[in-house]
Amino acid sequence: MERKTQTSEEKDIILCRCEEVTQKTIEEAIGKGGDTLDSVKRSTRAGMGLCQGRTCQRLVAKILRDKTGKPLEALTPPTSRPPFRPIKLDLLAQEGNKTAERK
Ligand code: FES
Repeated sequence: MERKTQTSEEKDIILCRCEEVTQKTIEEAIGKGGDTLDSVKRSTRAGMGLCQGRTCQRLVAKILRDKTGKPLEALTPPTSRPPFRPIKLDLLAQEGNKTAERK
């Protein structure tokens, strides 16, 4: 199957919507030696968003396959971790005060 060459504008499309990572950023990470889904995830944050890569992981895997020649079956899924969100310090302080009052 013949693949169409992409323009630089097409490479600016966002592949990871959660972390707003573009195809160009993914390709640059692979060009710098990222040859696994985990290494690309760590260097670009693609896959670290709220959906945890459900949307973007397959797209990143296809780019990795195209750039490295590795078959999709050989690409191990990256380590999965729950997303964390910032917590306001006063919320933590309130919780600490409640704990102190109970003692
Ligand atoms: S689209 Fe990439 S983590 Fe959600």
